[in-house]
Amino acid sequence: KQVAVFFGGRSAEHDVSIITGLQLMDNADTAKYDLIPVYITREGAWFTGEALRNIETFKHFDPQTKGLLPCWLSPVAGERALKAEVTRTFGKKIQSYPIDVAIPAMHGMHGEDGTLQGLFELADIPYVGPAVLGSACGMDKIVMKSVFRDNGIPVLDAVAFDRGEFELDREGVLDRIEGALPYPIFVKPANLGSSIGISKASDRASLQAAVEVAIHYDHRILAEKGVNHLKEVNCSVLGIGARAETSELEEPVSWKEFLTFEEKYMRGGKGAKSSGGKGGMASLDRKIPAEITPEQAQRIRDISLQAFAALDCCGVVRIDYIIDLDEEKIYLNEINTLPGSFAFYLWEPKGMPYRQLIDRLVELAQE
Ligand code: DAL
Ligand code: MG
Repeated sequence: KQVAVFFGGRSAEHDVSIITGLQLMDNADTAKYDLIPVYITREGAWFTGEALRNIETFKHFDPQTKGLLPCWLSPVAGERALKAEVTRTFGKKIQSYPIDVAIPAMHGMHGEDGTLQGLFELADIPYVGPAVLGSACGMDKIVMKSVFRDNGIPVLDAVAFDRGEFELDREGVLDRIEGALPYPIFVKPANLGSSIGISKASDRASLQAAVEVAIHYDHRILAEKGVNHLKEVNCSVLGIGARAETSELEEPVSWKEFLTFEEKYMRGGKGAKSSGGKGGMASLDRKIPAEITPEQAQRIRDISLQAFAALDCCGVVRIDYIIDLDEEKIYLNEINTLPGSFAFYLWEPKGMPYRQLIDRLVELAQE
């Protein structure tokens, strides 16, 4: 099978996506798949070529010395091919790489948010992960919350507003937030991942500062009730529609998001091969399984399946929870429809090595 793996992209999670893409290619069964790497630069240019499978290529990205070819998806529906431009002795030629399945190893905007999924739909290429609707709803934290709340899924109280609204009436927006939520308050850009642009506010001055940070990243902003004593628990869901199952649960212990590119990559283990339970990227330390009661675990699994269905998900997702230890309540915090490292480390403890997870994702894409 010809499998195109997309990574990089015009999102703040560009580097994380490179790691996810390289790990995936390192672990895919090459006896089954011909992998076609497609790297999207921060500016949005597409390249293909073997050198894209090597981490060194991204340290000082130079497509010419690495023999990379500019490429794009065939705009002809039904053709299912990646077209690359090759310059030969007698001028430009177009090289065609047929695609059976596309794997968007992408995080954040223009990759995880339904835009790339829309392109695959138009080109009639089967792809891994949720379709346009679930991807778009899962990316926008404001819409995500509304959909989940409507489905009876517990989410933390929040106030949503727009950058323009804040710029017109700063005090009014701050009053509205303070009127609705007690401190601490978390301020988040609606459309980002990997904790980028999120800050915690404990009074009006820090609230204003937090909003100023968030509006730098997005025009849709969410101010959310903070939880003082909490435990984070994540659960992955794999499958399609009603045929979905939950993974082992993890408890991220220390989050340190702003690591250098190399530090992040090396977290995945040597050569970023999957490595028994550890691995992944952004989260440094995690307990697997999470140290929670069997009742809490069951509740999280139940909500996860409900959330997966609510967004009409497919493939593998990771749903992140906050347990309020004072109130003993569980809240769904967010869904990652294309999670970092495809959350392979949550399936390994269930006896599914990363290689097998990839096989399953490719199968699901074609259903
Ligand atoms: N958005 C990042 C990659 C994650 O949460 O997995
Ligand atoms: Mg995310």
